[in-house]
Amino acid sequence: MKTLEWNVDNHVDNLKNNPQIVEAANLLKQNEIIAFPTETVYGLGANATSDEAIAKVYEAKGRPSDNPLIVHIANFSQLHALVLEIPEKAEKLMKEFWPGPLTIIFKVRPGFLSKKVTAGLDTVGIRMPDHPLALSLIKAANLPVAAPSANSSGKPSPTTAKHVHEDLFGQIAGILDGGETGIGVESTVVDCTVEVPIILRPGGVTKEAMESVIGKVEIDPALNENLKSKPKAPGMKYTHYAPNAPVYLVNGTPEFIQVLVKKSREEGLVVGVIATDETADLYDADYVRACGSRQDLSTVANRLYDTLRSFNSKNVDIIYSEVFSTEGVGLAVMNRLEKAAGHKWIYENDLTK
Ligand code: TXA
Ligand code: MG
Repeated sequence: MKTLEWNVDNHVDNLKNNPQIVEAANLLKQNEIIAFPTETVYGLGANATSDEAIAKVYEAKGRPSDNPLIVHIANFSQLHALVLEIPEKAEKLMKEFWPGPLTIIFKVRPGFLSKKVTAGLDTVGIRMPDHPLALSLIKAANLPVAAPSANSSGKPSPTTAKHVHEDLFGQIAGILDGGETGIGVESTVVDCTVEVPIILRPGGVTKEAMESVIGKVEIDPALNENLKSKPKAPGMKYTHYAPNAPVYLVNGTPEFIQVLVKKSREEGLVVGVIATDETADLYDADYVRACGSRQDLSTVANRLYDTLRSFNSKNVDIIYSEVFSTEGVGLAVMNRLEKAAGHKWIYENDLTK
């Protein structure tokens, strides 16, 4: 199909009447699907009340149909038609973090949203994105907009319109290009249908920040792969974010990682390294990519998916990655890296015994 590509300046005063936004919103109303930027990653938007539109999203992404979509809204007034009740803690989180990178799971109000959005669950994830283009698009369409990340299922999420183009050009009605996204990892998904809210997916809003507003917050134990229990966010069970070459997470010094690199190259492999601004110069490999600074892990979140994607064009056979602390946004970074690596770890101390 024909994919329209619009370049929109985020800084224009009157996005409401911007002809490109209006054209994209009209396509959404006609149950076509449109990629648009948010503050986290690009989303693939569809009319959340239409079975026809939602079917197109699953089809274009190649997404398993048991994995529900997040519904995006632009006004608090849109919420009541979508959910049965708003628990007090959810209300506090919304007031503090919306618009922003936080998806809250509520009990769904039956009858309004397409059942395909919730994949048959009796709950729905909702968020208000903090991006002028996303908010203008949702307002212009005057719809709740279901939007998963705008990548092919299994690929790293898109943080630029070019990433979306690589994965979905020719399969969707349009791509709104609003430049690079800011945060770079997806929203935090928090289940507020239970007394003590549970993080189902770590993301842009940290556990620490939520706890300062509502007190204790748990983390879904299934996120700790060792337990092998079933994650409550269906999407978290799939392999994700993976480059074509296998990724190994290395708990060790750059010197130790360089030993691994050298050994693999001696075996004839083309070797990549995911490094940091502080360490990139220490490696001698076929492709070394700094994915941000250890001084500020938000820079790592911002560049992580572009870094993972970049290895595919370098035709590496194996990738060794540095690892990070799980404090703050580091929890989301390590969650995505673990998935990209399929939980393959190498420990310096194990091998040097
Ligand atoms: O930042 C984001 O959240 C981006 C942008 C586009 O908003 N969207 C996004 O959507 O990451 P997606 O579809 O790639 O991931 C949604 C995640 C999945 O892991 C899904 O299983 C989970 O949220 N989820 C959605 N609805 C749920 C529900 N009712 N209960 C549990 N998990 C849910
Ligand atoms: Mg996704």
